[in-house]
Amino acid sequence: MSEQQADSNIDFNNMNKTALLAKCTELGITKCKSKPRSELINLIKTKLASPSSQPTPNNEFVQQPPNTLNFIEVCAGAGGLSSGLMKAGLFPLLLNDFNKDCCETLKLNHPGINIIHSPMEKIDYTPYIGRVDILTGGVPCQAFSQAGERLGLNDPRGALMYRFAEILNTVKPKLFMIENVKGLLSHDNGNTMRTIIETLNASGLYNITYKCLDASKYGVPQKRERIFIIGILKTITQTPFVFPTELTTRPVVRDALANVPTSIGAKYPAEKIRLFQMIPQGGCWINLPVAEQIQYLGNSYNSGGGKRGILHRLSMDKPSLTLLCTPSQKQTERCHPIENRPLTVREYARIQTFDDTHQFIGSLSSQYKQIGNAVPVELARQMGLAIKKNLELATQTN
Ligand SMILES: C[S@@+](CC[C@H](N)C(=O)[O-])C[C@H]1O[C@@H](n2cnc3c(N)ncnc32)[C@H](O)[C@@H]1O
Repeated sequence: MSEQQADSNIDFNNMNKTALLAKCTELGITKCKSKPRSELINLIKTKLASPSSQPTPNNEFVQQPPNTLNFIEVCAGAGGLSSGLMKAGLFPLLLNDFNKDCCETLKLNHPGINIIHSPMEKIDYTPYIGRVDILTGGVPCQAFSQAGERLGLNDPRGALMYRFAEILNTVKPKLFMIENVKGLLSHDNGNTMRTIIETLNASGLYNITYKCLDASKYGVPQKRERIFIIGILKTITQTPFVFPTELTTRPVVRDALANVPTSIGAKYPAEKIRLFQMIPQGGCWINLPVAEQIQYLGNSYNSGGGKRGILHRLSMDKPSLTLLCTPSQKQTERCHPIENRPLTVREYARIQTFDDTHQFIGSLSSQYKQIGNAVPVELARQMGLAIKKNLELATQTN
């Protein structure tokens, strides 16, 4: 039976005022302390019956295994973060994305899990009040990324951070975690990050900390720096979150590509193949003859910066450069170390530490995008283990 169905079986007439007020808080009914019992009962019944309190139809409370911590993830993409958290033993109560392909991918790989295809801001979270251990999300980051126009919180995608803060204030989980690009730290001289932390901490309920982690130091064959902002309820611990320690083993592209299953992949046009024939492993446009460099880079030839992502060929013996949403645009080439072609979908997935069994739905470009957007599964798993450890310690010392 779902919790909603269970609620409809409760006889509210038998509940005292304190219990009714607690139910009101759970359902997000405010300003009701001074109301008589009869009015509280009416408010609760109306709220439970209203369509806005009913989650989207496929939103069932799936049976949670005993002694597990649960999580809600908004903007869950293809499931890099959720797969890693699940490998760490955490249980997803709800996974959300507004992209159809992402939701189909999530459904295929996480059967039986409650997946909601909707903008995250349109979901009613009140049924989850008091039931959630962890709220997480890779709230979109284009607004803060080095590559984008960097409008930050003034970009509608950046403003989704405010929506996340609203969900946080509704659900009040024990811990929340936001993953985002490193560019968030420097955006608007640090003002954007300050605003985000202030917004997340408006309630004063959480001890918030953040750290930039490089996935290549956590068992992932890829240099990928991402910020993790984490808050823990002050009522369960005064200690800020302790991040996982870096590993000494550093997997490289050779490890990732060993026995990789064959799969679909993008192709380079003949001209790009000709250029890559001149570039060694770990090299880039800089390895071309100067005349070819000038012709390929055009105006950006004199623009400064290393531009090492341009015409970049991966090295078998190093971690990959950060994988992006497409493997073959001018600024994002990550050519196979030996062959003159972009990485295939399965090679992309291997470098993001997805299992070979994790399937992706959609067109070729959609699949690359889903994989390129993901939190590497292994990094997510280690964050999941650290979350468990932090929360277990907090409850033991409380
Ligand atoms: C960086 S990706 C998340 C990747 C995911 N954490 C993973 O590990 O696979 C951001 C996702 O947010 C989704 N998204 C953007 N705006 C959204 C919104 N308003 N509601 C729900 N999902 C949204 C996008 O479709 C995209 O899949």
